[in-house]
Amino acid sequence: MYAFSIMQYLSHTLPALIRGKTALIRVDFNVENQEESFRLRASLPTFKFLIAANVKIVIISHRGRPRSLRDQKKLSLRSVRLFLERNLGRPVRFISKIGDDTRRKIDAAAPKSIFLIENLRFDPGEETNDPAFAKKLALLGDFFINDAFSVSHRANASVTGLPGLLPSVAGLLLEKELLGLNDFKKNHDDRLVIILGGAKASDKIGVLTHFLARAHRILLGGVPANTFLKASGFDIGTSIVETSMLPATKKLLREKNIVLPVDFVWQSGKMFDVGPRTIAAYQKEIADAKTIFWNGPLGYFERDKFRIGSAAIAKAIVKSEAFSVVGGGETTQLMHALGLTKRVGFLSTGGGAMLEYLSGKTLPGLAALEKTKKLR
Ligand code: 3PG
Repeated sequence: MYAFSIMQYLSHTLPALIRGKTALIRVDFNVENQEESFRLRASLPTFKFLIAANVKIVIISHRGRPRSLRDQKKLSLRSVRLFLERNLGRPVRFISKIGDDTRRKIDAAAPKSIFLIENLRFDPGEETNDPAFAKKLALLGDFFINDAFSVSHRANASVTGLPGLLPSVAGLLLEKELLGLNDFKKNHDDRLVIILGGAKASDKIGVLTHFLARAHRILLGGVPANTFLKASGFDIGTSIVETSMLPATKKLLREKNIVLPVDFVWQSGKMFDVGPRTIAAYQKEIADAKTIFWNGPLGYFERDKFRIGSAAIAKAIVKSEAFSVVGGGETTQLMHALGLTKRVGFLSTGGGAMLEYLSGKTLPGLAALEKTKKLR
């Protein structure tokens, strides 16, 4: 855990160190539906902590992957302002472009003022990790907080550049993520069942191979299952498959603990969900598990009629006595829609970052935070 984290200083030292200062805080507001967003709500505790410590807050985030001016309209962060105002009970000033006078405006504002900067990815320097862009951002705060675990796998200017320029700490959400995921890492030798689905196979292969020797069962659904099924010679019709992953999956077909669905819900030649026999088999594995990790729905869950498999898995997980970790944008959205978020052992805001962290990779954003200067 980070030596300078907010948690460690929560009671006394940190509030004294930061009182009256301006916090530049990187969060992950990369969400589609604001009202239902688990990510937005998860970011609130750190803001509340900073307000209580009399700190000015400058919020930075990306949203989506803007590639054109048209994208910029859709992916503005302007609308998140209302969510923040409603939930923090304070006005939030939106800054659409960082200018020469932005820092002056921040300095002139009263303590506890909140500023929200427009989508960082509207500037190409964010994703190219341009040091000049990181410097421009660093001018906006006296110290930096990374509270964006879910983007800490990206070597972007606001993630890896800022900790080198400002004294930095981990935010409450980032710490919570590490505590939850580290708990899972510690527990996993105990009859571990991993469930992997979703729209891609390539992002799951790291976790799958990392845990292969230790997992009791790895239950597949969605595109990962389709890809394995195709590699095994099963006729998947025109179902979505990740062709580039076929050679890697072929090599794994003999692994006894990888379990594939045995029946499906078909429509127009495509498999859209797992069938009742698969659901029953997966429910049994989940009931016998001691530790569970789930990422990615088992079918096209956006349509009610194809979410039966995923909903059954979600319910089986909360019913089981196992320690469970559930993560990923679509999976948390589903848990939210089913009203089950509070009944999971740990719900992660991370998608790709969580998968990489659990695969044993070093996340650049976390590595940068470990090397940062101390707050004084
Ligand atoms: C995510 O949603 O996983 C993070 O916000 C990272 O987004 P990205 O995959 O567009 O970098």
